[in-house]
Amino acid sequence: MQNTEKTSTKTITGAVDPDVLDYTVGDDPVLDLALAEWDCLGTAAHVTMLSRMPVEPPVATPEEAAAVKRELAALVAESRRGEFKILESDQDVHMAVERRLTEKLGDLGRKIHTGRSRNDQVAVDVRLHIKDSILGLEAEAARLARRLLEFGKNHDRVPLVGRTHLQPAMPSSVGVWASGHAEMILDQFLPLEAAYKMNDLCPLGSAAGYGVPLPLDRKLVSDLLGFERPLHNVFGASMARGENEAALLCALAQMMTVLSRLAEDLILFSMPEFGYFRLPREFCTGSSIMPQKYNPDLLELVRSKTATVCGLSCAALGILHAMPGGYNRDLQDCKGLYMKGLSLTRATLRILERLVASVEIDEARLRAGFIPGVFATDAALGMVARGVPWREAYHHVRSHLEELSAGDPDAAVAAKTHEGATAGLDWDMYEKRVAALEAETSRRAAEFRARRDALLKVS
Ligand code: ARG
Repeated sequence: MQNTEKTSTKTITGAVDPDVLDYTVGDDPVLDLALAEWDCLGTAAHVTMLSRMPVEPPVATPEEAAAVKRELAALVAESRRGEFKILESDQDVHMAVERRLTEKLGDLGRKIHTGRSRNDQVAVDVRLHIKDSILGLEAEAARLARRLLEFGKNHDRVPLVGRTHLQPAMPSSVGVWASGHAEMILDQFLPLEAAYKMNDLCPLGSAAGYGVPLPLDRKLVSDLLGFERPLHNVFGASMARGENEAALLCALAQMMTVLSRLAEDLILFSMPEFGYFRLPREFCTGSSIMPQKYNPDLLELVRSKTATVCGLSCAALGILHAMPGGYNRDLQDCKGLYMKGLSLTRATLRILERLVASVEIDEARLRAGFIPGVFATDAALGMVARGVPWREAYHHVRSHLEELSAGDPDAAVAAKTHEGATAGLDWDMYEKRVAALEAETSRRAAEFRARRDALLKVS
């Protein structure tokens, strides 16, 4: 309904109808709280560069830049205490930071936006946030992989029926099952690292997407913030916004898909009809009517959250695909998507790590699953060893299935010695692989922290 009575709300960039402001600001005052620290960091790099820019009169002196950075450090500390506030009239974190600096520093605060736009500012904030978050997420993923590998190594040669189409297929082991899932998680570092690399380029200096007539030192800003290099083309830098968030979301969707399949296996193998694994009771939830129930709700929610994260990546790509070149406000809506994707994926990694650490196995039930048919392929291969051509052996076994007797699961597990099979798992290789990923992740996290401290010392 039209409301002509309403007066407009004053913002830094002019007066806006309150309903329009409400709609366009959306969730930014809440979502942007996660960017406050990164906004201050980006501003510290920008003001440092401005204070060294060869123009007369200087935009800011080195002393003024130092004063700005002192205030920014105080804002970061405030944000870490959870006390930083973004008002609706600020619209977003960028204007909230500018308002606070202006309240403290007067004209100096009003100078800090020289040569930049909120478009390159939000882009740099998001990239710093994503880089930091990917390093945290990778550490969590490595921990989950480590737990699965521990579980696998502890029960390395315990027989488990391998399945295809969910039907009993061939002899396998708990070791192969657990390390297979671990390997899938570790392989997701590839798309995650691709997303990290895409986010490791600095958009600052592109301003609204078309640069500014000032001798900006974009390389200096990029170096101060610990980016690999600036995004070269100013228009390209503005176009890259959202693509980097979508790259992250696609990597998250892939990781969640892997976790969801792990969850599904755990649900199946712990249901009474299988009984291979036991989930700790405190990880299950009961029913309000059926007293006997211990339900794997947590694992079911991993499946649904996977669907959600996949949806978030589609939403981001959907927002991007029809946008014309240059900044468009649609991009604001990619922000909540990637933040939600990160928090769902990280929470899933953390809770699964705790669950996997306490899953127990039931060896008797695992062995009981070895019905004669599971040994059919091995029996045909036994005939091949006696000189029978494979296809003939296959047809012979297939037409005499009733003659198959239950074999020895342990012998079957011991017989597959080639690389990656039940008796050919390289646990040392896994240990080295996880340790190398963990070392690399923490090395980069420490380097990133050192960069931040060098630019903006927060006490
Ligand atoms: N909150 C905005 C966003 O996330 C900040 C950039 C606003 N820029 C603009 N030209 N209106 O995109």
